[in-house]
Amino acid sequence: EGELRGVIALDGPSGTGKSTVARRLAAQLSAGYLDTGAMFRAVTLAVLRAGVDPADAAAVARFVEDVDLRVSTDPLDQDTRLGDEDVNAEIRGNAVTLAVSAVSAVPRVRELLKLHQWRIIEEACSTRGGIVVEGRDIGTAIAPDSPLKVFLTASTDARALRRTNQDAAEGRVSSLDATRADVERRDGLDSSRAASPLQAAEDAVWLDTTDLDIAGVLERILDLVDERGLRG
Ligand code: DC
Repeated sequence: EGELRGVIALDGPSGTGKSTVARRLAAQLSAGYLDTGAMFRAVTLAVLRAGVDPADAAAVARFVEDVDLRVSTDPLDQDTRLGDEDVNAEIRGNAVTLAVSAVSAVPRVRELLKLHQWRIIEEACSTRGGIVVEGRDIGTAIAPDSPLKVFLTASTDARALRRTNQDAAEGRVSSLDATRADVERRDGLDSSRAASPLQAAEDAVWLDTTDLDIAGVLERILDLVDERGLRG
């Protein structure tokens, strides 16, 4: 049971089990864990709090320069902060979920977060040896040299059901129909934006999770890690 060397890129739409899988994978490999979606969500929360219109790309681009975003890479203690304030719960709420696609489509936001993500990845690789990074453009734009890129998919119904269950478990009120509509809306926006859209890298391994549970997905990815000799 060696430790991970390098970066594992885990991409795909929401509701595929990506975050849970990425966290457990990182813990099992004694690696770092980076949730890039949380970074876009935290910036979006800051935009909303400041009263900046998420649809005003120029205003968002100006505002984002001053956001003091801090994230941890410990898979067992995930921490997302604006300044000193822990915003990890608030960024999962409805207001942020509705606005995050618009904010993450702004090129300057992506550029700044990319630099931030590169620093975090470099730091994790030098201190821990490796890191599991999840998002939408990790294999294509953030870590194109990653030795293992996995693209998670699942049917729309399966993803809507998982999100609804997750909302219920975390005390948020939602309905399956509304959640399915939101999943479809966000997929459309995230896949069609000009800047770094949700897209599988050419050398990514596709993994359909519709009929797999978390343990099944994890097992499949750990097989790939070992096939490729990524445990140092
Ligand atoms: O994974 P998530 O649902 O927490 O991500 C929230 C949003 O952030 C998602 O709708 C698209 C955006 N995002 C992105 O554009 N690029 C990433 N690498 C990660 C997330």
